[in-house]
Amino acid sequence: MAGLNFLNMFAALLVLSFRVASSLPEKTSSALFIFGDSTVDPGNNNHINTVPDMRADYKPYGQNGFFQEPTGRFSDGRVIVDFIAQYAKLPIIPPFLQPSADYTSGVNFASGGGGILPHTNQGAVIDLQTQLKYFDEVIKSLTEKLGEAQAKELISNAVYFISIGSNDYLGGYLINPAMQEIYIPEEYVGMVIGNLTQAIQVLYGKGARKFGFLSLCPLGCLPIVRALNPKASEGGCFEAVSGFALAHNNALKAVLTSLEHLLEGFKYCNSDFYSWLDDRIHNASTYGFKDGDNACCGSGPYGGVYSCGGKRSTAEFQLCENADDHVWWDSYHPCERIHEQFAKVLWNGPASSVGPYNLENLFFDKEKLTIADIVDAPQGVQLFQ
Ligand SMILES: *[C@@H]1O[C@H](CO)[C@@H](O)[C@H](O)[C@H]1NC(C)=O
Ligand SMILES: *[C@@H]1O[C@H](CO)[C@@H](O)[C@H](O)[C@H]1NC(C)=O
Repeated sequence: MAGLNFLNMFAALLVLSFRVASSLPEKTSSALFIFGDSTVDPGNNNHINTVPDMRADYKPYGQNGFFQEPTGRFSDGRVIVDFIAQYAKLPIIPPFLQPSADYTSGVNFASGGGGILPHTNQGAVIDLQTQLKYFDEVIKSLTEKLGEAQAKELISNAVYFISIGSNDYLGGYLINPAMQEIYIPEEYVGMVIGNLTQAIQVLYGKGARKFGFLSLCPLGCLPIVRALNPKASEGGCFEAVSGFALAHNNALKAVLTSLEHLLEGFKYCNSDFYSWLDDRIHNASTYGFKDGDNACCGSGPYGGVYSCGGKRSTAEFQLCENADDHVWWDSYHPCERIHEQFAKVLWNGPASSVGPYNLENLFFDKEKLTIADIVDAPQGVQLFQ
């Protein structure tokens, strides 16, 4: 009997020590603040006075059922920041305008149709400058709730994810003859990038240090733009429109490199969303998609008529059988599967496709890998999962 008790006790001790070991606090994640447009809007536009084009809070948006109801996301399900929050072990980050949202894991200010410049879709969206003003309200509220020291710590430790710019070129310039008369394309790109740079500096001034960026995709391949290509018979993307995205991305890349040198402690994650999506559009089957050209939900050529859901100017629309087969969900926006795959690249993709930091580095404060780390790494250690 005594022996058995001893064994039991030994087993209990073992269990106990395991519990102690596994309850050692894991390095906690950073909060996540999101600024942007429909690529990352979690439903802020449901709460503003806007037009049907800028809303997605009705079926078949959200049809894959991850969320019980359509949330306002411009996707068949989740968007990229939902996956990033999951990998960072955070809850779903709430829309800023959701009543009584809890800000302690971060908050999402993004607004479908929103631009870097205030004139883009003015009156129907929350532009970047207004999103920055809302961030001031959040800082105030966090300071009241947590005290100044803890709020400051949360803000400097947080990751700031920015996905915005497409609307400045599409709605703000290409279908806006007045703008085209004032600015030649190069000047306009310079102005958009100038205002984005200012926004980054404003955030840095408020204590932000860690940034993630979703660069612009090939805008000329959006089904809505492809359908407008004057060389429609060629069936290709509208290259002149994609040119704006390329110019924007190149300029952003240069700005980020110099900010890294100018601003102490500024760390960022960027990646080439343009080439990544271009590959999937042109070689869909290589990546497990059946269709890289046509919207799953919409009407007309390429599904380029922005009618998904039938609540905008056109009531008729078609819906494909399986959204997972498609790169594009509606005339402007990719499917959840694209969001998920790209979130994975940003999270822990190799230095050849994301950098200088990946998001995992930023959230869990890992340092950039150096050549020495790679050479010194013990055998069998996987540097990239
Ligand atoms: C920001 O945009 C405005 C137009 O909205 C422009 O006048 C200004 O020069 C831009 N700022 C920078 C730094 O480019
Ligand atoms: C598509 O794949 C082919 C062959 O694998 C490659 O040569 C081509 O560059 C790819 N096209 C794009 C746009 O990625």
